[in-house]
Amino acid sequence: MNWEPKIAGFLCNWCSYTGADLAGTSRLQYPPNIRVIRLMCTGRMDPVFIFKAFQAGADGVLVSGCHPGDCHYQEGNFKALRRALLIKHVLKDLGVHPDRFRLIWVSASEGDRWARFAKEFTETIRGLGPLKLTRGAILESGARSQLGQAAA
Ligand code: FES
Repeated sequence: MNWEPKIAGFLCNWCSYTGADLAGTSRLQYPPNIRVIRLMCTGRMDPVFIFKAFQAGADGVLVSGCHPGDCHYQEGNFKALRRALLIKHVLKDLGVHPDRFRLIWVSASEGDRWARFAKEFTETIRGLGPLKLTRGAILESGARSQLGQAAA
């Protein structure tokens, strides 16, 4: 089988997007499996984005932001960290391996770190294999209500 992992990558504009760009301009080698979606800050990461990405066919989702203390919006990455714990919990409840989701920190000057995480995460997802979800499984199976309860 010629399967390749499909990975959605949500990167904050100020640190990780620039770090990934630096990896590219520095010609660092890393797998091309991550489709990058730019957010202004990881604090903008709505958990629904993550579940929708899985529902749309992603085998893994990576979120990357500024290091703690370096967020350009003060504490967006701390909000992301709290949401990441919730997301992992809900994924587990849905029967999706929590390692399919990861939150990392990469600064604008860490192109090498981005390349290393991109390789590592792609290999993790390759090891887990394709995610098999029935159509509409995630958002119809209670993730919305669990997220609603947690947000309340
Ligand atoms: S601006 Fe990068 S995580 Fe907030």
